[in-house]
Amino acid sequence: MPTPTGYLHGYSDEERERLHRQARFLESMVHDRLPFRRRKKLLEVGSGVGAQTEILLRHFPDLKITGVEINEAQIAEARRFLGTVPWAAGRYEVVHADGTRLPFGPESFDSAFLCWVLEHVGDPVRVLGEVRRVLSPGAPVVCSEVLNATFFLDPYSPDTLRYWTAFNEHQLSVGGDPFVGAKLGNLLQSVGFRDVSTEVKTFHLDNRAPGERAEFLEYWSELLLSGAPALLAADKVSQEIVDGMTRELERVARDPNAVFFYSFIQARARAW
Ligand SMILES: C[S@@+](CC[C@H](N)C(=O)[O-])C[C@H]1O[C@@H](n2cnc3c(N)ncnc32)[C@H](O)[C@@H]1O
Repeated sequence: MPTPTGYLHGYSDEERERLHRQARFLESMVHDRLPFRRRKKLLEVGSGVGAQTEILLRHFPDLKITGVEINEAQIAEARRFLGTVPWAAGRYEVVHADGTRLPFGPESFDSAFLCWVLEHVGDPVRVLGEVRRVLSPGAPVVCSEVLNATFFLDPYSPDTLRYWTAFNEHQLSVGGDPFVGAKLGNLLQSVGFRDVSTEVKTFHLDNRAPGERAEFLEYWSELLLSGAPALLAADKVSQEIVDGMTRELERVARDPNAVFFYSFIQARARAW
């Protein structure tokens, strides 16, 4: 099965580690009040290294989860990781498949969860259409997706913004969508989901929470730099821009009045 065309972050061991850290770091925002309480069979598309699967299994002890993942190395890591998690035993499977062609029949699941995956697929309508096809009536779906136009840093960091523009344009040029969060309402509605709602989830970190700001800046620097090898190889950024961004991020991290701002979108809906 091919690697998804829009997968900017790559499939290195470091990237797999980053996904584990990222899921834990964002857990309180992504997993806040999810509607899976009386659900038994959840479909997770783009399950990656199993990091979100572990959190869902921990929060919802009655749930069994089927992860669908297109990349075999991610699947191997998910199986290794979930094999070490006591509360996951006997409650998950990870299937090697493409979210645009789910190998399940109608009404196979009573809930679905997608996180940071639609930004990497060329045809999000088809993935969501497939998710709806395999859900039972009334099943809730939750999608959390990026909206990269919302990023802001103070002190002003021009190389970082140039890099960010290149990062987003590269993702668009390889068939992904770094702004897909804003479109989730339309996408879900277009394939027949009902009761569609969206929530803007914002990190606005300043002097009110200096510890959290420092942690977040570290996480964000890692996320930005995870795209650097692909962007340098594709000639989308120069080494000077990457070096300039690295210096700017260090300066922001030292600045006692730094501001970090970013929003993502979490959409919820029901199958019908
Ligand atoms: C950024 S990772 C997020 C993983 C996980 N949802 C998380 O939050 O940790 C996106 C994952 O989606 C997978 N993916 C991309 N396109 C896919 C597709 N068409 N079908 C299934 N998985 C896909 C990638 O291989 C990658 O593991």
